[in-house]
Amino acid sequence: MNHQLVPVITIDGPSGAGKGTIAQMLALDLNWNILDSGALYRTLAYFMLIEQINSNDFDKNQEYIKENFKVKFDPGIIGEPVKVIFNDRDITKKVRTEEIARETSNLAADPRIRSFIKPCQREFMALPGLIADGRDMGTVIFNDAKHKFFLTASLEERAKRRQTQLKRQGSEVNMRVLLQELEERDKRDTEREHSPLRSADDSVTIDTSALDPNEVLEEIKRYI
Ligand code: C5P
Repeated sequence: MNHQLVPVITIDGPSGAGKGTIAQMLALDLNWNILDSGALYRTLAYFMLIEQINSNDFDKNQEYIKENFKVKFDPGIIGEPVKVIFNDRDITKKVRTEEIARETSNLAADPRIRSFIKPCQREFMALPGLIADGRDMGTVIFNDAKHKFFLTASLEERAKRRQTQLKRQGSEVNMRVLLQELEERDKRDTEREHSPLRSADDSVTIDTSALDPNEVLEEIKRYI
């Protein structure tokens, strides 16, 4: 398929800024495909953990990983996270934990991992369009996207949202620990050398701290 014909909307930002919810709402609203690139990195981290592949041995195992790394997303229903299907198994709950998030943020700083994931991400481009959620969707992977958004929110608000999400999944996490983890992850994601988290020059920034998801969606739809 000629990828240039596929419209892409990118939604980047730090953890808890509301990217997942808004990407899901947009995908359902427009009936477009969805790429949750954070979940793609999480799935790779999860796969390498269960296969006991150390990141130092990534090159050696790259062929094996490539053959077995088949990920699909299902936007699911509003109020629940986007579903992650790995080799036909729903692994959503397994990858959306703080442990995997920590592991993933370390792994994602490795340029070999990023260049392995890049073509996997571009493969999600399919008609009628793609909503791509992540950290470098508008800056690197879909530099040519039609519309780019960058969502932000205060650290406290983002931690509160993460806590609610985790509670819904059945895990209790202390607020102090959550704040500290988010801060560390933000720092790693923004300060890393390869594809750091930043807004694209041609993106629209929306601070979602005081907005509910419907208000954010309305604002985005005004632009598109
Ligand atoms: O968005 P999510 O919390 O699932 O992302 C998990 C981690 O994956 C992030 O902390 C970040 O380090 C990494 N990531 C990335 N590039 C992306 C998406 C996620 O480096 N496009």
